[in-house]
Amino acid sequence: MNEAYALPLALCATLAATAIHVALSFSPFIPPGVDSAAFVTALILSASLLVLSVIRHLSRQRPDDGPWIRAARKILSSPIKERHALPVEILPHLMLGDKKSASDVAVLEAFRISHVLNAAGHAGRQSDEVLQRYTEAGIKLLQLDAQDEEGYAMLPKHRKTAADFFALAANSGGRCLVHCVAGINRSGVLAASELMLHERLPLLEAIRRIKAARGFVLSNDSFLEQLVTLARAEGLLGPPPPVEEQESPRPPRKTRPSVASALRGLG
Ligand SMILES: *[C@@H]1O[C@H](CO)[C@@H](O)[C@H](O)[C@H]1NC(C)=O
Ligand SMILES: *[C@@H]1O[C@H](CO)[C@@H](O)[C@H](O)[C@H]1NC(C)=O
Repeated sequence: MNEAYALPLALCATLAATAIHVALSFSPFIPPGVDSAAFVTALILSASLLVLSVIRHLSRQRPDDGPWIRAARKILSSPIKERHALPVEILPHLMLGDKKSASDVAVLEAFRISHVLNAAGHAGRQSDEVLQRYTEAGIKLLQLDAQDEEGYAMLPKHRKTAADFFALAANSGGRCLVHCVAGINRSGVLAASELMLHERLPLLEAIRRIKAARGFVLSNDSFLEQLVTLARAEGLLGPPPPVEEQESPRPPRKTRPSVASALRGLG
């Protein structure tokens, strides 16, 4: 739904009102003394106002995340200077890795990892041998059946569960390793959201830090968009980044003056 619908909707309202007007003029039920033209005019007016207020409401709910997404992309696509041996530390109580690093229990013990969150779910399940070694080492495991798909609602579906599990690790004096298969998108966005919310960091600062720690991370735009949405909801967007800090700066799109924007000026 966007403002482009304003005109067609107003036309429909007008057509409907005209139809009623015609019907009324043939109707034997029209009470004497009621001016059907005035009635219909009122109808058109109220229908148009209703439509416009709906449009204004909906267009207000579509904030433009573009500048933050482009700025985050620019940070994320900057060259990687060093090889990052996994797992990497994101916060004192949180490490990020891939499936392979999560299967090396000696490494997990060396890093004092007490909890493992496998965001690759059953498809990314470790071998029984590894799971057995987790149990022996007292490592608690939680598996999230998250899909590795563009557009999958990773944060809306799993962020709370993940945050609770990270808190469990922290409160027990341990630390959690979050991983998926590659340690880039699914676990990357969970780690980034924890970093941002736990430290109350502005979005782009959290992105900068996770990039510095992990190198190649958050390659998928739809997961990045979810992070921006979360930042907006939490008041952590920070000021709009200047155009030169955004990837492939585009000239601002020319907005066609629309009925709704004309009326917004009135309200
Ligand atoms: C995340 O990145 C990895 C590595 O580039 C890729 O294999 C995976 O498909 C990506 N996931 C999504 C949801 O884009
Ligand atoms: C990740 O994001 C990009 C850009 O939004 C998209 O083209 C790609 O298909 C996505 N999925 C994977 C699995 O990489």
